[in-house]
Amino acid sequence: MPPRPNLPPQPLPEDKELVLKVVPMPADVNANGDIFGGWVMAQVDLAGSVLPQRISHTRMVTVAVNEFIFKQPVRVGDILSFYAGVLHVGRTSVTVNVEVFAERFSDQGKFVKVTEARLTYVAIDATGKPQALPDTEQTRAWREAIQSQEQSAPQKR
Ligand SMILES: CC(C)(COP(=O)(O)OP(=O)(O)OC[C@H]1O[C@@H](n2cnc3c(N)ncnc32)[C@H](O)[C@@H]1OP(=O)(O)O)[C@@H](O)C(=O)NCCC(=O)NCCS
Repeated sequence: MPPRPNLPPQPLPEDKELVLKVVPMPADVNANGDIFGGWVMAQVDLAGSVLPQRISHTRMVTVAVNEFIFKQPVRVGDILSFYAGVLHVGRTSVTVNVEVFAERFSDQGKFVKVTEARLTYVAIDATGKPQALPDTEQTRAWREAIQSQEQSAPQKR
């Protein structure tokens, strides 16, 4: 198979937080020789949970992968950077957007978006039932930021 050309680099998101960096290994490839989509999904689920976990010291579980887009293939040796931002804070749930950028092994210092996803996490109690998120400074800050964003431009969640 001929090598695929490297795409033009893209800017990293300034409104999101870098929550995870990881390098896929040969054990993570599919039959095409690219990285297996299920491996990428697992990393996105972990990355997406970082911000929700910050506001709830109870257990958070993934209730939904609302959207998942594989924009470009991921290759062995790429350095993957996962950026997350909170889209919605509900009574028991937090919805986040995760963008994944690859720094190609052969083209380091340049970033290409390979994946984008939207996931929802729910705080649960000891019996596994949803419980209200704690009213922390961070929870209030996110709610206020989202409210002011929605007033200027309505967002999907
Ligand atoms: C998460 C779980 C406790 C939710 O229980 P539930 O009875 O469906 O809860 P509710 O209907 O009261 O919804 C709880 C919250 O989740 C949100 N939610 C439920 N289904 C959703 C969906 N499909 N998409 C987005 N949000 C969803 C609700 O809007 C609600 O949010 P809010 O309180 O902030 O308004 C239950 O579904 C569960 O245990 N799922 C398995 C989780 C798991 O094991 N995840 C790992 C994957 S292997």
